[in-house]
Amino acid sequence: MTRNSLLGVIGGTGFEAFSEFEIERHEFVATPYGKPSCELLHGTLSDRRMVFLSRHGDEHRFLPHQVNYRANLYALMSAGATELIALGAVGGITTDCKPGSIVIPHQILDYTWGRESTFHAGSDRPGTGVLSAHVDFTVPYDPKIRSRLQQAALAAGVPVVTGGVYGVTQGPRLETSAEIDRMERDGANIVGMTAMPEAILARELSLPYAALSMVVNAAAGRGKGQVLLDEIDKVLEQTTLQVLRILARYCRL
Ligand code: HPA
Repeated sequence: MTRNSLLGVIGGTGFEAFSEFEIERHEFVATPYGKPSCELLHGTLSDRRMVFLSRHGDEHRFLPHQVNYRANLYALMSAGATELIALGAVGGITTDCKPGSIVIPHQILDYTWGRESTFHAGSDRPGTGVLSAHVDFTVPYDPKIRSRLQQAALAAGVPVVTGGVYGVTQGPRLETSAEIDRMERDGANIVGMTAMPEAILARELSLPYAALSMVVNAAAGRGKGQVLLDEIDKVLEQTTLQVLRILARYCRL
């Protein structure tokens, strides 16, 4: 992970594009797994080479359960990305993850179902032995990227929560308060819909992967009344600016 390596950034809700990123070219990458969510954008951020992919596609075309995660990850690898930072909006479950917080999660609980969650399906990768499918996933987020993100946040003066368990739900609906209670008992601090299978697919491709998760609402039953979408928009706008500052510093480390 040097300044010469190619940083891949996967943008989530509220993060489809940003002006500090100087775009040089667009690239459409065809993959054996179908089409990625959109074209890749190649350019520079703080003078560092970066490739950007909007997870939900142009105009937020794909909901979390509709995203072609395999094509997205494969495209980023084909484009030469050597490390990945995933951005995304989440709900806050525990009191340390209030709306407006930015979390650098360290663990995952996967509640999704029915998603294409491996490159090892059927004859996709002929020649790889059966056992090679059982990749180690003890530590799902890359510790080196996580620690550099912490360093960057400190340098940028942006407070972050330096660990957290990300519970991944299927969506697109939000959770019931009983589901959130169960997730908290399981150990989840935040809840979102996109960390899986993204994180495991990155691991299968040996791409170091970490995330900046923006808490945009209190999870179901953790705030006052219902989860309101217009409040989410407001928080997202502010938090996005802070995430950008972290990313810009990260590029200069
Ligand atoms: N639940 C699941 N995903 C989310 C939430 C939530 O409360 N907020 C943003 N993404």
